[in-house]
Amino acid sequence: MVSEVEFHDRMLSLGLARVSEAAALASARLIGRGDEKAADQAAVDAMRTQLNLLDINGVVVIGEGERDEAPMLFIGEEVGTGNGPGVDIALDPLEGTTLTAKDMPNALAVIAMGPRGSMLHAPDVYMDKLAIGPGYPEGIVTLDMPPATRVSALATAKGCEPDNITVCILERPRHEDLIAEVRSTGAAIRLITDGDVAGVMHCAEAETTGIDMYMGSGGAPEGVLAAAALKCMGGQIFGRLLFRNNDEKARAAKAGIEDLDRIYNRDDMVTQDVIFAATGVTDGSLVPGIKREVGYLTAETVLMRSKTGSVRRMSYRNPTS
Ligand code: FBP
Repeated sequence: MVSEVEFHDRMLSLGLARVSEAAALASARLIGRGDEKAADQAAVDAMRTQLNLLDINGVVVIGEGERDEAPMLFIGEEVGTGNGPGVDIALDPLEGTTLTAKDMPNALAVIAMGPRGSMLHAPDVYMDKLAIGPGYPEGIVTLDMPPATRVSALATAKGCEPDNITVCILERPRHEDLIAEVRSTGAAIRLITDGDVAGVMHCAEAETTGIDMYMGSGGAPEGVLAAAALKCMGGQIFGRLLFRNNDEKARAAKAGIEDLDRIYNRDDMVTQDVIFAATGVTDGSLVPGIKREVGYLTAETVLMRSKTGSVRRMSYRNPTS
């Protein structure tokens, strides 16, 4: 295993911001054009080009999918110049492809980097997720609690009534019962159509975003990326992999996962210090989207290091010609 000293997280963080900026800027011309695939492809190409300029010996552990279904940034792909520390990388060049195609809020380009072995190799299956922001005792809410109990436990810890709690949930038919149970507590629900990495990150800045808790199932890779973000911002996240068939169980076995029912907490999913960058593609409550002006594009990035808990917000104006 590579030591923290060898990881050079401080030096690499600016390079990581360049990688997410490049992906977001590349997808900008496809915002609102109704073409998810083209937007994703543009982000993937740009992210890969920038990643390969970094002096790292990187391996993609959370990526665009298996090698046979993803031509680039597939799980196991080696990235970087090869002259540098061995690192694991979790990425989603465009988190919210539909949000981008429809010009809806909170699409992001996201990437996390840590020493080898620092992040769960989550297969591309669903994960049941639960997240809250920083400042609460560990485990005051758990995945084993019914959703209504989670709301009342969080309200008690926050010193308010359940109707002062706002829960963020992906709007999906599979969440109908969850939504009904949360509503029965009196809590408010912010329904999102996509983008649960942003949904989870919103819990870490509840005063700005108005979201106290995230619940529901979404992609497991996005769960690990969200855990990396909360490792830097503070907050708790729990995840349990969900399997719909034997093929999905086989994917987990291939990723080295033995206990299929395990509940992972944040530090199980991200076991060592990491750096994390997210650049806004479309406008969001945490980070603004790409701003277009004649002759320029401006990208806003949030860049974080878990070792120090530092959160840096950066604005990058780039001439388009
Ligand atoms: P994409 O950007 O790959 O389209 O993913 C968006 C997303 O909403 C994720 O944020 C979320 O984890 C997942 O899709 C949910 O999956 P599903 O759309 O199948 O419910």
